[in-house]
Amino acid sequence: MKSLLLILPLLSALVPKALAQMPTNKIYGVNLGGWLLLEPWMLPKEWQEMGGQICDDCTQCIESEFALAKAYPDTVDGVFAQHWDTWFTQNDVNTLKDAGINTVRLPLGFWIVEGLVNRAVEHYPRGGLQYLRRGLGWLRDAGIRVILDHHALPGVQTPGQMFTGNCTDDVQFYTPYNYGRALVWTAVMTTLSHLDPNFSSVFSIEAVNEEMMDANDTPGYGDFQKNFVRTVRAVETILGIPVDNTPPNLSSVMSTLPSTNFVAALDGACKSDLFNQDVTAALLEAIPILSDIATSYDLEVILTLSPFDCHDKEPIVTNFMDITWQYDNPSNPADAAIGPQAYDNHLYYSFGGVADPNPTAYLESICNLQRVQDSAALGNSPMWFGEWALSTNFNATDAFLKDWADAQKLAYSKGAGWIFWNFKIESSDSWGDQTDVPRQWSYLEGLKRGYLTQDPSKYLNPDVCVPYIKDNTNTSRKLAKKQRQRHARENFF
Ligand SMILES: *[C@@H]1O[C@H](CO)[C@@H](O)[C@H](O)[C@H]1NC(C)=O
Ligand SMILES: *[C@@H]1O[C@H](CO)[C@@H](O)[C@H](O)[C@H]1NC(C)=O
Ligand SMILES: *[C@@H]1O[C@H](CO)[C@@H](O)[C@H](O)[C@H]1NC(C)=O
Ligand SMILES: *[C@@H]1O[C@H](CO)[C@@H](O)[C@H](O)[C@H]1NC(C)=O
Ligand SMILES: *[C@@H]1O[C@H](CO)[C@@H](O)[C@H](O)[C@H]1NC(C)=O
Repeated sequence: MKSLLLILPLLSALVPKALAQMPTNKIYGVNLGGWLLLEPWMLPKEWQEMGGQICDDCTQCIESEFALAKAYPDTVDGVFAQHWDTWFTQNDVNTLKDAGINTVRLPLGFWIVEGLVNRAVEHYPRGGLQYLRRGLGWLRDAGIRVILDHHALPGVQTPGQMFTGNCTDDVQFYTPYNYGRALVWTAVMTTLSHLDPNFSSVFSIEAVNEEMMDANDTPGYGDFQKNFVRTVRAVETILGIPVDNTPPNLSSVMSTLPSTNFVAALDGACKSDLFNQDVTAALLEAIPILSDIATSYDLEVILTLSPFDCHDKEPIVTNFMDITWQYDNPSNPADAAIGPQAYDNHLYYSFGGVADPNPTAYLESICNLQRVQDSAALGNSPMWFGEWALSTNFNATDAFLKDWADAQKLAYSKGAGWIFWNFKIESSDSWGDQTDVPRQWSYLEGLKRGYLTQDPSKYLNPDVCVPYIKDNTNTSRKLAKKQRQRHARENFF
């Protein structure tokens, strides 16, 4: 007991601080995957009807947006418009609201900002922004908050994955050209988030989904993290949204800029030497893109014609995968923070390497999860679990999936909360003997089957972890081990 008391103040120092922008209490969320960034594995029947293919190695067939757009350049926009119109609807928003969902993470490709695509060599469908604006409007009206997640980066950030939009081993993201394009995307999305009323539910922007894990493969990524935050804050400085560390004289310089319209102010700020070269270059490139968006989407009054007034004076919460995603001396995203920032951890047991493939090992592992504390010790707090599922690498019974849902929700709620992957999965007879895909990867299916509770803050069995929590008696041994780990990390970083 005595040692427990000693440890408590240590832990409370690590309890995540809530950010003003976050939904009250906890994040209970789902990903809107498969929508504006289509991963064929989640909807194999519709994908094949769209002209796509399913194969064992996605680099080898039409199993990504890029491959489909390349194969059908003349019809791809119409085929995707049909998908965007039907995969996520007002009905889904109503269902999610009824299920108590307060947050969605919205995976996006860089090509939703169409001016960034080099059409000579890159092939992606056009027209997604219109559907994004419509969907964001529904979410805003339902009071559901949104994280815009840059999930598929220019140049491809991870090899062999459908979620990058181009399943290829040719990874080109970690280069000055593509870092630059990602900053332009950031400037455009930050601007829309503050000025387009349909974006008013956006409270966070995630820089990069699942970068490569070995930091040796991601040269320059630490500088990119810093420039990502600086770009968000540069746009906000021009908009007059104060952030903790904004130097006072910066604000006074800004007040001398034209405020006749936002694009003019952006242009003025770029001439003033206020921001570093990379950020200034991104802002300059964003100007014609924002002007095009203004014309195409009837946003001239807001972006290019009238004095600007943003609807939300709260700065965006910048968001990165937490530092433990990478190994081999990674940069710490905490070093990039200016103003509110949060961290994203993803945890799937089904791919192996986390726990032995059986129910007891899964529960022992999740019930003793240390990730929130470990990341907080490195400054990565608050942290939410932006991807998880009920998937397993063994055949799971219904009874186990109920425990598995409860135990994961308990573990992730020790941080800022959780966001399930995915809100839905294609429900069709096309799954053959793989019916566990919708059963274990779809939030709405899990809800229907009773694995998940209608009120997401509740548990079927709040004591599910009690039998699995490891003996804490030998605290001195544990503390010694922790200290050794901390020293190892300090040497590392
Ligand atoms: C904005 O959202 C509303 C729903 O609240 C929707 O009716 C409207 O069409 C959206 N605007 C655009 C341009 O998509
Ligand atoms: C994407 O895929 C195509 C075709 O497989 C390839 O030619 C292209 O260079 C790829 N890479 C990037 C970074 O877009
Ligand atoms: C702002 O103030 C800092 C320190 O007081 C100074 O170094 C910097 O040059 C000033 N910047 C501008 C744009 O005046
Ligand atoms: C799961 O059950 C199926 C039959 O329903 C069987 O073919 C498969 O081998 C089992 N998988 C594991 C990992 O036990
Ligand atoms: C507890 O940890 C200490 C320090 O590592 C060790 O000397 C001791 O043997 C352990 N006791 C038990 C009961 O495991």
